[in-house]
Amino acid sequence: MRIERVQIENFRIFADAEWRPKAGINLLVGENGAGKTSVLEALHIMAFGRSFRGRIGDGLVRRGSDALQVVIEWQDAAGGHVAGLRHTGSDWQARLDRVAISSLAELCEAVRVLTYEPSAQRLVSGPADIRRRFLDWLVFHVEPGFFPEWRRYTRALRQRNAVLRSGADPNSLLPWEMEMAESGERLHVLREQTCTRLTPILTRLLALLAPELGEPRLRFKPGWREGPGGLLAALAEHRVRDASIGYSEIGTHRFDWRLTLSELDARTMLSRGQEKLAGLACVLAQAIALNESGRGVPVLCLDDLPSELDRNHVVHVLDVIQGMGNQVLMSGIEAASWLPDAVHVFHVEHGSIRPRI
Ligand SMILES: Nc1ncnc2c1ncn2[C@@H]1O[C@H](COP(=O)(O)OP(=O)(O)OP(=O)(O)O)[C@@H](O)[C@H]1O
Ligand SMILES: [Mg+2]
Repeated sequence: MRIERVQIENFRIFADAEWRPKAGINLLVGENGAGKTSVLEALHIMAFGRSFRGRIGDGLVRRGSDALQVVIEWQDAAGGHVAGLRHTGSDWQARLDRVAISSLAELCEAVRVLTYEPSAQRLVSGPADIRRRFLDWLVFHVEPGFFPEWRRYTRALRQRNAVLRSGADPNSLLPWEMEMAESGERLHVLREQTCTRLTPILTRLLALLAPELGEPRLRFKPGWREGPGGLLAALAEHRVRDASIGYSEIGTHRFDWRLTLSELDARTMLSRGQEKLAGLACVLAQAIALNESGRGVPVLCLDDLPSELDRNHVVHVLDVIQGMGNQVLMSGIEAASWLPDAVHVFHVEHGSIRPRI
């Protein structure tokens, strides 16, 4: 997809701002606090239904206003689209192609925006939930069967946890465990396949972006110890422990994946810049995997990309993303004189976004 217009109202510093990004690479520059991250955050909300900086109720609505509003217009293979979201922090209304929608998942499916923000920079060494969200974004977009199965599993998990906490007869856990096992095994296959699909792409990318890190590998962890009886047997074996803590400690909801590198311990030995490059390579690998799946071409939002990367690495990153062909919206403090001419630069100041003249 290619975003043609973004309208941001009552969103953090912006009262009413419009941005018309171009195809290719767009760079937002401006002083600290000018609102660069907020622009990318507004797009992230349209694609994920939530912010990467806390809950919508926590400071996203501009001080003195009741609700924020974001409208985006974009083109994709099917033609032109428009989506709008109004959010008070608790209630929301949204429209997709002028029709009101009842689930934010509809917006998330239509708006394919991938964001590289501070938590993505901690993909390698940060907590597992960052990696889970990362992989599920891709599975959600490439595997149409994923979301219904995910809903089914999540509902069964919630019910099993409620029974565990109620102290009811352990046999009443069985129907929920059967449901969790059936949908969980399916989710597991989809996630593991997607993880496998990312490995060769990541190998290609890291060879270009940071060859000094060596050969990458992604190792998928299911979230339970696999045995002959599958997830159903594992859940039954875990009942006593789960009843004592009041929730399901094992299951596909506890899956994880790990990046290993042949030259360094990825969790403990990477410098900040190297960790940033490794996380960026993972995000770009997701974009390439979606491009190759034929199920849409995402827009890449890269917040504060140039900081902590040296000039050579920034040049390599720009080469790679230019070669991919996706629209890129990125932010930085200033536009270096050596940036390629193909980068469209916009200034964010005084609550507005203007092209650099
Ligand atoms: N609810 C709000 N109402 C009004 N202004 C807000 C609100 N929340 C945040 N702001 C202001 O909006 C701006 C948000 O800045 P943002 O993080 O987008 O800046 P940035 O350009 O990315 O800065 P940096 O270069 O430091 O990363 C800040 O000036 C902040 O004080
Ligand atoms: Mg910022």
